[in-house]
Amino acid sequence: MPKDKLFTPGSIGPLRLRNRSIRSAAFEGMCPGGVPSDSLVRYHASVAAGGIGMTTVAYVSVTDGGRTFRHQAWMRPEIIPFFKKLTDAVHRRGAAASIQLGHGGNMADRKVSGRRAVAPSARFNLYGLTLPRAMSEADIEDIARAYADSVKLAARAGFDAVEIHAGHGYLISQFLSPYTNRRRDRWGGSFENRTRFLRTVMAYARKASGKQTALLVKTNLEDGFPGGMGSEDGIEVARILQNEGADALVLSGGFVSKTPLYMLRGLTPHQELISCQTDPLIKLGMAAFSRIMIRDYPYTEAYFLEEALKVRKAVALPLVYVGGLASKKKIDEVLDAGFDFIAMARSLIAEPDFINLIRKNDNHVSQCLACGPCNSCVATMYMGECRCTFEG
Ligand SMILES: Cc1cc2nc3c(=O)[nH]c(=O)nc-3n(C[C@H](O)[C@H](O)[C@H](O)COP(=O)(O)O)c2cc1C
Repeated sequence: MPKDKLFTPGSIGPLRLRNRSIRSAAFEGMCPGGVPSDSLVRYHASVAAGGIGMTTVAYVSVTDGGRTFRHQAWMRPEIIPFFKKLTDAVHRRGAAASIQLGHGGNMADRKVSGRRAVAPSARFNLYGLTLPRAMSEADIEDIARAYADSVKLAARAGFDAVEIHAGHGYLISQFLSPYTNRRRDRWGGSFENRTRFLRTVMAYARKASGKQTALLVKTNLEDGFPGGMGSEDGIEVARILQNEGADALVLSGGFVSKTPLYMLRGLTPHQELISCQTDPLIKLGMAAFSRIMIRDYPYTEAYFLEEALKVRKAVALPLVYVGGLASKKKIDEVLDAGFDFIAMARSLIAEPDFINLIRKNDNHVSQCLACGPCNSCVATMYMGECRCTFEG
């Protein structure tokens, strides 16, 4: 193994990255009216200039109806020139660009899209105060095809990679999880049936991505609560994704409507989250119940490592480790343990040039750790920003 694996180039399918670092998809909130803004371009350009191998534009919906936020983009031909500006800016700074494609399912907001949310089953989602409609066969087919259309549009916009969001309790994850998927037809029940939607999306996405665009999938190691998808299923899902032709997997965990802090660890920014809500009902509900509903999980560096290693043993395809990386020492440990790439969100939100900082100084530790982490950056995504608000 080379001495400094982080700074050696690596491949994901057809794509060659200048080093092993990826800016993890972390919602920027910079697409007012669903259109990528100049702030989004500047933000990703700054991460590219900061030395990253590849930066990922977060949480772009494959349909208008799948949006959770008003300032979230959905893929359509009109916005391709805006994304092209972003990919050009990233490429000029030597990095590759990826785009995360997803669908909110029961987290989609009717006030944003003007239509009722859809999900595998009609089960009330307390977090969004939504009662979704159970998807018909036609809905399933339409949304799976929307992934394919979005992949083609992403390639036209100059993205080198797409990342299918199959984790965190969004639509694909809602199909995988026995908690949200109560269907009794071929899309629910057995493990095989619960993975059918994922396999259908993958077949469309793989065909659409062709040989030029790398296809990554962000998937859950586990949902993180009793009744959700457990770690054995998480490993089987990774095997399925390998068979379906994914070029790499990003391993995460948690379920936004049940265990929102599971994927992040650290402190819950209750006050900040309450202040940034615009819906008075949700604001009131959060003020009354957020301390009961949202629990903290203790933060340790590389908190998913133990679970992710189980997947490492089970599959051969490139794996991207994400979760709790804030120092060169821990990054090296993760890469030495057999992961091909590492992804980070908060260390890069705190310091977009974190990669250059650790290249210059092995002992540099992310400013993000100075506060716990406090996770206040999560609240900034509601406000059209993506920044660390910790003031020391
Ligand atoms: C502000 C913020 C927004 C996020 N938005 C997304 C998102 O849109 N899609 C996603 O897959 N993960 C999202 N995440 C999770 C991160 O991609 C990552 O998995 C998690 O923060 C753990 O990595 P870290 O310890 O390097 O921050 C978000 C995280 C943060 C802090």
